Amino acid sequence: MGKVVVIDHPLIQHKLTLIRDKNTGSKDFREIVKEMSMLIGYEITRDLPLQEVEIETPLCVTKSKSIAGKKLGLVPILRAGLGMVDGILQLIPAAKVGHVGLYRDPETLEPVEYYCKLPTDVEERDLIVLDPMLATGGSAIAAIGFLKDKGVTNIKLACIIASPEGIKAFHDAHDDVDIYVASVDEKLNDHAYIVPGLGDAGDRLFGTK
Ligand code: URA
Repeated sequence: MGKVVVIDHPLIQHKLTLIRDKNTGSKDFREIVKEMSMLIGYEITRDLPLQEVEIETPLCVTKSKSIAGKKLGLVPILRAGLGMVDGILQLIPAAKVGHVGLYRDPETLEPVEYYCKLPTDVEERDLIVLDPMLATGGSAIAAIGFLKDKGVTNIKLACIIASPEGIKAFHDAHDDVDIYVASVDEKLNDHAYIVPGLGDAGDRLFGTK
C-alpha cells in the first residue's frame, strides 16, 4: 500500500500558514510555494541510492558518497503544478521536466489529456509528479495512469495539501505511489475545494481571480 508522508518540519508548517492566509499576494505565494517545494523535494529524495566514489581533497585521497546516477524526472500537472517545479529543480538540476495538462469533459466528467510532453526516455526515469492540491484526486489519478501507460514504473506524488477523500481515491487507483504532503486537511466542500485549504492554487500562483 502506498504511504502518505506528512512532512511536519517546522519550516514547512510555518510556510503553509503563510500561503493559507488569504491576504498573502501572488508574489509571496509563488515564492513560498517554491521554498516549500524545495523542502518537500529534500524529503522526497531521501531514499536516493548512493555510491562510493574516490576523490582527492586538498589533503589526501578519500572515498565519499555520490548519488548513484539515478535518472529523475519532474512532471507538473498543469497549471498549478508549475509552481512546484523551480524549487525542486534547484535541488536536482539534472532532472528533466515533462508536462501533463488535463481538463474535465463536461459531459462524461472524465479527465481528458490536452497536453503531454515528456522526456523521450521517460520509462527509464523515476518520476516525481507535482500537484499542489490533491482534492478529488481525479487529475493526479489520470496523469499517473497516462505515465504508467507509457511504461513508467517508479512514481512519487508531491503535494502541498491533500484531502482525506483525495488520498483514498488516489490510493484506490495507484496503491504503489507514495504521497508526500505538507498537510492532510479536514475535507472537501461541495465545490471540490479543500477545507480549510488555501483556495485555488493556480489562481493564487498566477494572480487570475
Ligand atoms: N484545487 C485547488 O487549487 N484548490 C482546491 O481547494 C481544490 C482543488
